[in-house]
Amino acid sequence: MNISIILAAGEGTRMKSSVPKVLHKVCGKPILSYIIDASRNANIDKNYVVVGHGSDEVMEELAEDDVFFRIQPIGEGCPYGTGYAVMQAMDDIEDDCNVVILCGDTPLITDSTIKELLNYHQKNGYDGTVLTAVLDDPSGYGRIIRDEDDNLLEIIEDRDATEEEKAIKEINSGIYCINGKLLKDALGKIDNKNIQGEYYITDVIKILREGGRRIGACIIGDSREIHGVNSRVQLAFCEKIMKDRINQTHMLEGVTIIDPENTYIENGVSIGRDSIIYPGVVISGNSTIGRDCIIGENTRIENCTIEDRVEIYSSTIEESIIGERCTIGPYAHIRPDSRLGRDIRIGNFVEIKNSVLGDGTKAAHLAYIGDADVGKNVNIGCGVIFVNYDGETKARTTVEDNAFIGSNSNLIAPVIVRKRGYVAAGSTITDEVEEGCLSIARARQVNKYGWVDERQRRDGK
Ligand code: UD1
Ligand code: CA
Repeated sequence: MNISIILAAGEGTRMKSSVPKVLHKVCGKPILSYIIDASRNANIDKNYVVVGHGSDEVMEELAEDDVFFRIQPIGEGCPYGTGYAVMQAMDDIEDDCNVVILCGDTPLITDSTIKELLNYHQKNGYDGTVLTAVLDDPSGYGRIIRDEDDNLLEIIEDRDATEEEKAIKEINSGIYCINGKLLKDALGKIDNKNIQGEYYITDVIKILREGGRRIGACIIGDSREIHGVNSRVQLAFCEKIMKDRINQTHMLEGVTIIDPENTYIENGVSIGRDSIIYPGVVISGNSTIGRDCIIGENTRIENCTIEDRVEIYSSTIEESIIGERCTIGPYAHIRPDSRLGRDIRIGNFVEIKNSVLGDGTKAAHLAYIGDADVGKNVNIGCGVIFVNYDGETKARTTVEDNAFIGSNSNLIAPVIVRKRGYVAAGSTITDEVEEGCLSIARARQVNKYGWVDERQRRDGK
């Protein structure tokens, strides 16, 4: 059996935040979720997460069936350190299992790297294996000390290292795979007699080696994966790499992204083949984009289902469903709980909220459609307003199939326009428009002949 212990109890002081560090998001997903997912996908049977600072919040946000939380006591006088964190899961470690120790603040770690570490550990029959990386700038990290035969001897923390040791570029990623029984025995022997007064997990490696155990060092292929988030600067670094990864995955799956540098697609979004994404697009949350869509410049899509062959330009769409072949924008705003059928045309400066629109309906310019049930092939003219709010309560409007709402009309809810009902331009509709009937609800025009001449005469012009 393989288990993981993910260390996530640290405070993250350098984030200068009221949010626990591991809950900060990278491409829309909490940092810690990436580590849990990578571990899961690497065929780890059980994941134990050691939480401490902000533990209630972390547990609430990340509660899942196969994740087990262990709480590290935090506060004045409490012991501290990566070794102490691992001890919190001591009772969960079975003798014959492989324990993968992961850091809760390294969102870029991949399942394939964890698999590789496990594989390297098992294939070579090591008792403990350290995942290492070679960095141009190793400062801050524990350095890997090897003997003449290249065997791993020890890990020296940056602050405890001599100048000579500091020059070593191979570092400890903070990720390990250790035999269960040996880990438990060694944890019982570590102490906190060092400069920091902390229990170091790295001492476990030293104890194992001194006990004649075989320790491996597996060098990671892409050292960027072990980058941790300690500050907002590092958060942005991870965001950029994750963004590139996500965009690349979509491109390799057949999506055209015109300018990947300027396209923000969150983790978990799916996009169909031959869709084209223009610069400045942000697609977030639980969104699905179909095939052959065009998502035009500066469009924001949040928690939406966009079906096939939809075209959207410079618009914002939130928590809505957009049917096949609709065209939207530029500058439209589709607000939450809207459901558009197929072949609908929504043009510039149209706002839709909490409304259902049937197939083939059009609102090409400057309209507000709120709290409405609109049928098929309805034409909503320029400047139409669905007046849904009287200052106290909201009411719904129904417009049935094939109706025509003339420009600059107000439909005062609750009101209904029946099938093929025809509202004359400039009407303010307060009563039902019956089937096939023309409703004109505006003052009649009065023409006063010669009025202009008369006024000029009066004024002596
Ligand atoms: C550790 C390693 C160092 C390695 C580096 C890689 C030790 C002694 N040093 O150093 O060799 O190069 O990681 O990033 O292990 N944590 C707890 N409880 C604690 C202390 C820490 O859960 O009491 C968690 C933190 O939240 C963090 C992880 O353990 O996710 C690493 O702790 P951190 O303090 O960042 O370790 P480093 O000093 O960076
Ligand atoms: Ca760290």
